[in-house]
Amino acid sequence: MGEFGFIIHPVTGARDMARKYPLARVLPEFVLEQIVKRMAPKPVSEITGVRGAAGAPAHGWFVGCPLTPRQFVSLPTEFVLSKIIRAAELAQELGAKVVGLGAMTSVVGDAGFTVARNVDIAVTTGNSYTVWTAVEGAKKAAALMGADISKARVAVMGATGSIGQVCVRLMAEQAPSVMLIGRNEVRLAEIAASVDGKAEIRYTTDPIIGLRDADIVITVTSAVDTVVPGDALKPGAVVCDVARPRDVSKKVAKERPDVLVIEGGAVEVPGPVDFHFNFGFPPKTAYACMAETMILALEERYESFSLGRDLSIERVREIGALAEKHGFKLAGFRSFEKQVTEEYIERVRRAAGKA
Ligand SMILES: NC(=O)c1ccc[n+]([C@@H]2O[C@H](COP(=O)([O-])OP(=O)(O)OC[C@H]3O[C@@H](n4cnc5c(N)ncnc54)[C@H](OP(=O)(O)O)[C@@H]3O)[C@@H](O)[C@H]2O)c1
Repeated sequence: MGEFGFIIHPVTGARDMARKYPLARVLPEFVLEQIVKRMAPKPVSEITGVRGAAGAPAHGWFVGCPLTPRQFVSLPTEFVLSKIIRAAELAQELGAKVVGLGAMTSVVGDAGFTVARNVDIAVTTGNSYTVWTAVEGAKKAAALMGADISKARVAVMGATGSIGQVCVRLMAEQAPSVMLIGRNEVRLAEIAASVDGKAEIRYTTDPIIGLRDADIVITVTSAVDTVVPGDALKPGAVVCDVARPRDVSKKVAKERPDVLVIEGGAVEVPGPVDFHFNFGFPPKTAYACMAETMILALEERYESFSLGRDLSIERVREIGALAEKHGFKLAGFRSFEKQVTEEYIERVRRAAGKA
């Protein structure tokens, strides 16, 4: 049986700890942050029932790395990394042969290399499959809105990041125009110059300029707060928010009924899977980075598949094919924790038509 571990942390702030410790609901956030900082990594729950191709089983553990998104970026990197490494060691002690780095645990430092050097099991950020699902999900959602990728203008926000860069490259093979949005102009220029394909490639550090003519937006920054300016979006735009914590605020859904914001990277897991822990998704649904870790376990392919900030397109395609082989598929679309129905899409289309 394939054995895996996956490291999680409170994503929306210290109060997210209430998913495991109900007392966290009543304590002030700043008190909770101090407690969280001092807590050691712990097993959170057992993951059972993952069944891949020909019924191949996988079994795993969620391991908690208690730090909030803000603490991941503001505390000293050595402290944060030592906590992630301890969580990965714990996964190893529980029997995992591959461990996935969830949300901010894959963003800190060198995106997994240091963690991989410090444990005797394979480590993956899960970012290759995240790219695959972000691109496929954004295209599918755009089709529901009546947009055809072969004619669409695409924008990628966080285009200098591990996931963002490869989203740019894949989109440039399919769309006529790709806009890279980021903070570092020099990096943006380097990435833009290295993109193959016929697409028109532009870049900007100004999200308002970058978003204004985009039909499809993939946003995947590691910002702690929301960064997508809702008023910059084009009527009828589809925004695939892959970031955790989110890049798009709930306010955007309220103020822009003419744009479709979907949660990127949600995947249906094959088999009678039970996470024994509610991380806010419907039953049998996981983040793509979790799914990549499960796929490697099902394949008993214990290698560090996705590490660092230079992912390869070949690996993205490979994990996409392996996911299909084992029966993983894009989950139904959700927008701010609600199912996206045909009626909802019709309402967005009508509002976009009026706008
Ligand atoms: N949904 C899923 O299944 C899934 C799976 C894996 C990861 N994720 C999430 O995806 C996000 C990105 O991960 P990654 O591994 O690609 O991270 P990464 O390699 O660190 O890249 C992050 C990108 O965000 C940009 N950025 C950081 N802070 C920003 C800010 N305040 N404003 C604007 N841009 C900012 C960075 O720009 P600079 O180059 O200027 O620093 C960089 O382009 C994270 O939120 C992570 O939790 C989701």
